[in-house]
Amino acid sequence: MIIEPVVKGVVARSAHPFGCQQAIRNQINYVRTADPVTDGPKKVLVLGASSGFGLASRISLAFGGSMADTIGISFERGPSEKGVGTAGWYNNIFFREEAEKAGLIGKNFIGDAFSPQMRQQVIEYIKTEFGGQLDLVVYSLATGVRPNPETGELWRSSIKTMGEPVTGPTINIETDTMEQMTIGTATPEEVEDTEKVMGGEDWASWIDILSDAGVLATGCKTVAYSYVGPKATYPIYHQGTLGRAKAHLHATADQLNNKMSEMGGEAYVSVCKALVTKASVFIPAFSPYILALFKVMKDKGVHEGCIEQMQRLYAQRLYGKDKIVPVDDNRLIRVDDWELEEDIQQQVSELMVKITPENFTTMGDYQGYKTDFMQLNGFDLEGVDYQADISFETLTQLVA
Ligand code: NAI
Ligand code: NA
Repeated sequence: MIIEPVVKGVVARSAHPFGCQQAIRNQINYVRTADPVTDGPKKVLVLGASSGFGLASRISLAFGGSMADTIGISFERGPSEKGVGTAGWYNNIFFREEAEKAGLIGKNFIGDAFSPQMRQQVIEYIKTEFGGQLDLVVYSLATGVRPNPETGELWRSSIKTMGEPVTGPTINIETDTMEQMTIGTATPEEVEDTEKVMGGEDWASWIDILSDAGVLATGCKTVAYSYVGPKATYPIYHQGTLGRAKAHLHATADQLNNKMSEMGGEAYVSVCKALVTKASVFIPAFSPYILALFKVMKDKGVHEGCIEQMQRLYAQRLYGKDKIVPVDDNRLIRVDDWELEEDIQQQVSELMVKITPENFTTMGDYQGYKTDFMQLNGFDLEGVDYQADISFETLTQLVA
């Protein structure tokens, strides 16, 4: 079969396995020549390792100087009668292959990171095959649902405001159109449920159980990712349900830091730049901001993708040269510093008001936005033979 892109709204329904392989290789090539992570961790667990920031973290830590063995947990689907499977499925496979070529462990666990069984399997593996202890735990899950560990009932996150409803444009990648959409006001229950899904509770639970199992090394660090953004997007993000969940995540970092400091460890949240990922394309009214931001940052030569952000985070912040992790007044690591620079934000606001449904494909960086989205799914990459006839057997023979 010839694998073609299929997009429904903002969801990719197909992925190109060898495009994903190329994307992994491109990221590896980038970190190999970038400012390296020195004195970095050697044994790393990444929750949410198959795409976006989690995958970039894993690549940075394995190939960007630290040469870490990694365990990656993700929720992905392989080839079946339903289709070729998800991009993340292939990212896991090709990451592991590249890691093994470099003499590193790249162990993949595919399944629900929220489940007790996953915790047990991972701990068992760390003890029996991974050398017994971790130096770093990266928490990079992004999802809309989490089962209540007590009842199994699902909490669902909502992307809503906590004040007045907000109407703003959103992008439909399938039709290349910009559509108005209103984000309603969350009920108290929706606020709470979003916090359960995207807040820090599950992160803390993982750290607790890993710590109780004795698999956190002295000096072990942990990091989770957050977004804050400029004032213009506060009503939809920072002061909405997602922002509230992130506030919980930030508070969790402080609690975990107290706990982990007893064994010389540290816990942080890193605030990252707005980027196109499988998760972020869902955030309503956010895309015009990204279109303007990309355009301005590219014009200024300071644009970064996930891999550049993560390499900078690990090389210059978490394992930076002066050994003390630089943080802001709220003890947050800021790799969104370039995004939030005053002159960048000034130009972004000026551009954003000019972007309309008629002109967004040229006024903002829609080309870049769409290319990023396609590349997340293994399409539009240079050097890939998209006319290749790929058999189903070729795909089922690839193992996680
Ligand atoms: P993503 O969708 O690319 O990656 C999410 C990962 O979580 C995938 O590996 C997926 O398989 C895994 N996952 C989801 N549910 C799972 C489950 N039940 N069990 C196991 N694995 C599961 O998302 P992205 O954007 O990289 O997000 C990661 C973090 O970065 C999130 O906390 C997000 O808020 C944060 N962030 C994202 C920004 C953006 O612009 N994309 C900006 C700043 C922070
Ligand atoms: Na360093």
